[in-house]
Amino acid sequence: MFGNVDFDSIDITQEPPEEEPARQYYFIAKCRKYVKEESERLGRPLFAVVRTFGCQMNARDSEKLLGILTQIGYEPTQQEEEADFVLYNTCTVRDNANQRVYGRLGFLNSLKRKKPHLKIALCGCMMQEESVIEKIKKSYRFVDLVFGTHNIFKLAQLFVAMFEGGRMVIDIWPETGQIVEDLPVKRKYTYKSGVNIMFGCNNFCSYCIVPYVRGRERSREPREIIQEIERLVADGVVEVMLLGQNVNSYGQNLDKPITFAQLLKEVEQIDGLRRIRFMTSHPKDLSDELIEVMAGSKKICRHLHLPVQAGSDTILKAMNRRYTKEQYLTLVDKIKKAMPDIAITTDLIVGFPGETLKDVEETIDVVRKVGYDNAFTFIYSKRTGTPAASMENQVPEAVVKEGFDKLLKTVQDVARERAFRMQGQVMEALIEEVNEQDETLMTGRLSNNMLVHFPAGEKKIGEFVTVSLDTCHGFYYTGHIVD
Ligand code: SAH
Ligand code: SF4
Ligand code: F3S
Repeated sequence: MFGNVDFDSIDITQEPPEEEPARQYYFIAKCRKYVKEESERLGRPLFAVVRTFGCQMNARDSEKLLGILTQIGYEPTQQEEEADFVLYNTCTVRDNANQRVYGRLGFLNSLKRKKPHLKIALCGCMMQEESVIEKIKKSYRFVDLVFGTHNIFKLAQLFVAMFEGGRMVIDIWPETGQIVEDLPVKRKYTYKSGVNIMFGCNNFCSYCIVPYVRGRERSREPREIIQEIERLVADGVVEVMLLGQNVNSYGQNLDKPITFAQLLKEVEQIDGLRRIRFMTSHPKDLSDELIEVMAGSKKICRHLHLPVQAGSDTILKAMNRRYTKEQYLTLVDKIKKAMPDIAITTDLIVGFPGETLKDVEETIDVVRKVGYDNAFTFIYSKRTGTPAASMENQVPEAVVKEGFDKLLKTVQDVARERAFRMQGQVMEALIEEVNEQDETLMTGRLSNNMLVHFPAGEKKIGEFVTVSLDTCHGFYYTGHIVD
């Protein structure tokens, strides 16, 4: 196991081993030498920043990347200005994610002019697109290293190639069946952690680029997942978020198939683990078995993120979501019957090709009927290579804006109403951080994912407290601890 590896005893004068992860341990050992030499040359420690642009899975990848970087000798920093190595872990789900990366690259270029030894690396979903790679090769020559989503475990090896080669290193894999375990991780939070249970996506919703940049669905072995969580718990973690693009289809492609609900039952057994979350659930695959396991669980949080995307059956069909509005609403009824206190959240898209304002009314109707506790509302973004991008009836901006504003208003009204309903209740909260605006307060997260701010005395981050939700402020509460 990784924790027992003694990197200083690895003989880097030999050829690297073929098998993983031993091969990467070898390259980590080699990187340590390079970093040490550079640090001695500069007479100070070296710093690295890993910036996440995407979703929770992207964030978890960043923790793995930072794990490798700290192992090879870098100190983590939050600031590019202070860094000797900058790694951007990119996202391409909507065009604005791409634009943010290009914007920041201009700034990195100016930094590198002042600090020529600065190394700049790009990885993640955006790098899986050929057009992006062409653009970087042509217009962003100062970038030192580019890799994709399938080979992040190779960071140390690529790092060696970058140091030894002196020119831009590009390594993009179109696909992979490989899952490399047991590499270092540097967690952002001490008390909670994401845990990948699967990678990739097979659903091909017609607007979505994720299946193209993350590849086919692959589940991790339940044993590996359980062991990882046990290790996390031993290290102080009390809450895990099981991650996958569609957790409800977990386990189907394993040699010994198991369902997501069965996996949850096993995770529930882990002593010391207090809370279990997961995302994302695709409505078409959410089973009765899962509802039953959730309802009977003491650890699974009372929150379900269940993206609906749209309310109109015509649009849902064109999106290839494979459920109707009616089926979705029936599913929600079933869930609410089994767990009346559950918070349901969702993702919504406005402006999919062919969507009319009448269609948006259907989405608004779903929002009202479900009563979402929160919803992320996105404007449709055309992604090259997806079926929706070549559909002819793209919606004019003004129509999109009108629908978007109306939908957003409904989402906010409904969420506010839901939040007020819980004012005055007493609930358990996990203390997550010191309040950003007022440091006499702590911020806690409820099982239903809402935040509450309260004076906490001696209580510390990572502890559970019972809190009275005295005042609702729309999307959060202020309250006090009750014993
Ligand atoms: N696998 C998850 C979501 C992954 S992407 C799921 O199926 O729910 C997160 C969200 O981004 C999606 O739910 C969708 O609402 C949004 N999204 C994806 N592609 C988009 C696009 N082309 N334009 C706008 N929003 C998009
Ligand atoms: Fe994209 Fe659909 Fe897969 Fe989610 S389920 S990642 S929206 S293709
Ligand atoms: Fe996530 Fe963005 Fe990739 S949403 S999977 S980081 S395209």
